[in-house]
Amino acid sequence: MSQPSAFNQDYFVVKAKENGVHVIGLTRGTDTRFHHTEKLDKGEVMIFQFTEHTSAIKVRGKALIYSQHGTIDTTE
Ligand code: TRP
Repeated sequence: MSQPSAFNQDYFVVKAKENGVHVIGLTRGTDTRFHHTEKLDKGEVMIFQFTEHTSAIKVRGKALIYSQHGTIDTTE
């Protein structure tokens, strides 16, 4: 059995609508900094979670973000 968790472990999906979309993970805790940058090219899809290490995500570029809160088109 996995440990209970205080953070949201739901998945969200990013689909790039152009080359060079960046998905940047920011650290959890008192120090909020970039810890990982993932580059997606047009049509690439990646599935992400918020984790013990990742509390926020920044998406740079034209992309569709699918989450339990709905779908966000970064160009709108
Ligand atoms: N090692 C990171 C973590 O467990 C991997 C990761 C999860 C990540 N979600 C992310 C990196 C979102 C960038 C964006 O937290």
